Amino acid sequence: MTKRKPIKKAVFPVAGLGTRFLPATKVVPKEMLPIVDRPLIQYAVDEAREAGIEQMIFVTGRGKTAIIDHFDIAFELEATLREREKALAILEPTHAVPGHIIAVRQQVPLGLGHAIWCARAIVGDEPFAIFLPDELMIGSPGCMKQMVDAYDDVGGNLISVLEVPREDVSSYGVIDPGAALPGFDGRLTEVKGLIEKPPIEQAPSNKIISGRYILQPEVMRTLENQEKGAGGEIQLTDAMARMIGTQPFHAVTFAGRRFDCGSKLGFVEATLALALEREDMGTDVRAMAQRLLRE
Ligand code: UTP
Repeated sequence: MTKRKPIKKAVFPVAGLGTRFLPATKVVPKEMLPIVDRPLIQYAVDEAREAGIEQMIFVTGRGKTAIIDHFDIAFELEATLREREKALAILEPTHAVPGHIIAVRQQVPLGLGHAIWCARAIVGDEPFAIFLPDELMIGSPGCMKQMVDAYDDVGGNLISVLEVPREDVSSYGVIDPGAALPGFDGRLTEVKGLIEKPPIEQAPSNKIISGRYILQPEVMRTLENQEKGAGGEIQLTDAMARMIGTQPFHAVTFAGRRFDCGSKLGFVEATLALALEREDMGTDVRAMAQRLLRE
């Protein structure tokens, strides 16, 4: 039985400059780059819908309108497909309930924490989810569905984590894990602290924050006066760290695969992995990859 009010709103910060993907991202938003034939943002929105989330709040910047257009109706395209008797079902996931796609602007990319804060008026006074769309989470059920199930039990603030080799921790937000909670196969733990991009020797664990969050609205007030942190940016991790001790804070280890599509290597890996698994092309892709490796 559901114990808590369901999470209905999600924030998708998509105002970053995507400098690691230049020149591709000079005009095209990073979140519109496709993994096989679906843009990254579509995977994130589908994951949110699976978790029961209804309102999608995009924090955009200049040049990011393609993301909003993607979830609009393309009348000409649909009419042409209909005329040519082509199936329209492929566009179904791009359709949205009127009023459920909301865009707010982050005029200057001051950091992830600042981007989330830009959505404060729309989020209002209820717990909400956050998705970083360049982190592609593939699981069954999806990452956010796993999280809302855990949230139903523990409430408060909940983040998704993954274990990485210790030498990689300095590129990520890292948790200081407390006791594991009963149930959830030991995947649910208390969080005692958070640190953004620590030097390896100062990292409290090898569990990294992995692009999915359920946070209480108080984080907006914490972000309001958050100082700049790592990289000179207003960091969400720093604001969350300040909330520990004032509110329950837990982490759930995602049972599934994560691809860091903000990096070129992760993007290529995701493309290959998902193409290999596709029923319509997996066999051909495997043969192609084997041929390329032989050459
Ligand atoms: P990244 O650290 O991946 O930055 O941001 P980026 O600008 O997207 O990409 P690079 O590093 O320059 O290649 C993580 C997430 O936070 C958003 C990004 O859009 C991405 O989803 N973000 C970051 C903002 O919305 N605003 C910011 O000021 C910074």
